[in-house]
Amino acid sequence: MKQICVVGVGYVGLVTAACFADLGNRVIALDINEEKIDGLKKGVMPIYEPGLEELVYRNVKAGRLTFTTSYAEGLAGTEFVFIAVGTPSGVDGEADLRYVAESARMVAENMTEPLIIVNKSTVPVGTGDWTADIIRKHQKKPIRFSVVSCPEFLREGSAISDFMQPYRTVLGSLDLEAAEKVAQLHLPLRAPIMITDLRTAEMIKYASNAFLATKISFINEIANICEALGADVKEVAVGMGYDKRIGPHFLDAGLGYGGSCFPKDVKALAYMAAEKGRHPQLLNAVMEINNDRRPMAVEKLKEMLGGLDGKVVGLLGLSFKPNTDDMRDAPSLVIAELLQKAGAKVKAYDPVAMEVARPLMPHVEMCTDIYEMAEGCNALMVITEWNEFKQLDLVRLKSIMKQAVILDGRNIYDPVDMKRAGFRYRGLGRGYNND
Ligand SMILES: NC(=O)c1ccc[n+]([C@@H]2O[C@H](COP(=O)([O-])OP(=O)(O)OC[C@H]3O[C@@H](n4cnc5c(N)ncnc54)[C@H](O)[C@@H]3O)[C@@H](O)[C@H]2O)c1
Repeated sequence: MKQICVVGVGYVGLVTAACFADLGNRVIALDINEEKIDGLKKGVMPIYEPGLEELVYRNVKAGRLTFTTSYAEGLAGTEFVFIAVGTPSGVDGEADLRYVAESARMVAENMTEPLIIVNKSTVPVGTGDWTADIIRKHQKKPIRFSVVSCPEFLREGSAISDFMQPYRTVLGSLDLEAAEKVAQLHLPLRAPIMITDLRTAEMIKYASNAFLATKISFINEIANICEALGADVKEVAVGMGYDKRIGPHFLDAGLGYGGSCFPKDVKALAYMAAEKGRHPQLLNAVMEINNDRRPMAVEKLKEMLGGLDGKVVGLLGLSFKPNTDDMRDAPSLVIAELLQKAGAKVKAYDPVAMEVARPLMPHVEMCTDIYEMAEGCNALMVITEWNEFKQLDLVRLKSIMKQAVILDGRNIYDPVDMKRAGFRYRGLGRGYNND
């Protein structure tokens, strides 16, 4: 049984801790946020992630998973420490490394035995070396340690299965023995393990996220062109996706990417490039296309309603994607603000994100279900493609809405069905299928 300390119990850290415990390791999950740790000790999850509560409960009960706010406690008897703290965007788009620096300093000050420090946070290329410098500088006495980069690729909403069945595990270190020890921890996952150097591992994470964001912006650009030329982007994506060189994933045209990773990671990569005198043309275009999606959707709704002033608009979904309560960089935030600026009253319903969203959008009326929200609305806008939105009672909706208008920001409905049900319907990039 290996002993692991996971620093940071957010979306990545808590899933990592619970999954490693489930694989039979003894895990101490550490966070400086006392409220989170107190809650976890009482069985209260700080985030919504399908299956997480049960996994945490099972491993706490088996004595493999414990929680602490103390670095001394977290590091006692530990061979591996996984750092999974946030790396948000700084003012110029660079990754803000203050939490990584602080956790590295705390690890250095509290380590008493040789340690393998594994970085799971998404960090700029070169951060591994920088972390090693911080550790050396703050150690009370010299103790052997190694730094290994192990970027995380899980997705919120399917984080547990993504962790347990990854496409690959990437490890980067200048210390091959340390990287191999970390590889051993991942062997039960039975996925390919790639060992490379620190900087290359750090770059693989950014390049992967930037590529996926590029696919999304690409299909959104195609959506714009489809609209102009009368083609349907949904069908175009299906036709493209059969080609194995392209693949069917990440070809959903819509309101663009959001969330806690793609926006900040594309920005951070572009920043790193620019800082070294490179001109990240493609990344800049990816961001520009993405930023245009939200105002473009609001503009479309304005056109459909002949103005937004005094209109009531209901938002179906708030989180940046289904099966999460994460509101970081969620398209709903910009869309609600634009609608309100144009004079509309905004109502919203989301199956799990309303509690997190409420303080972020205080002037939006949160509703207990879809139909309460739709009552008196001039239009609905689909923001998040939650499954429960896919089968609506259209007759009931039409009878309670002021105007039967739907702007489908995720293309989840069939335009023909919608028209048949008497709705004025528009998706994004749906060519002749638009009204
Ligand atoms: N969220 C995702 O889907 C995802 C996926 C892959 C990679 N990542 C990357 O993983 C990292 C973590 O992301 P997240 O979404 O889990 O972040 P998060 O904000 O949900 O969680 C970070 C946690 O770290 C804690 N923390 C901050 N400073 C600390 C310190 N000094 N000591 C102990 N705890 C501290 C915070 O209290 C918080 O609980 C980021 O770099 C992110 O880019 C995230």
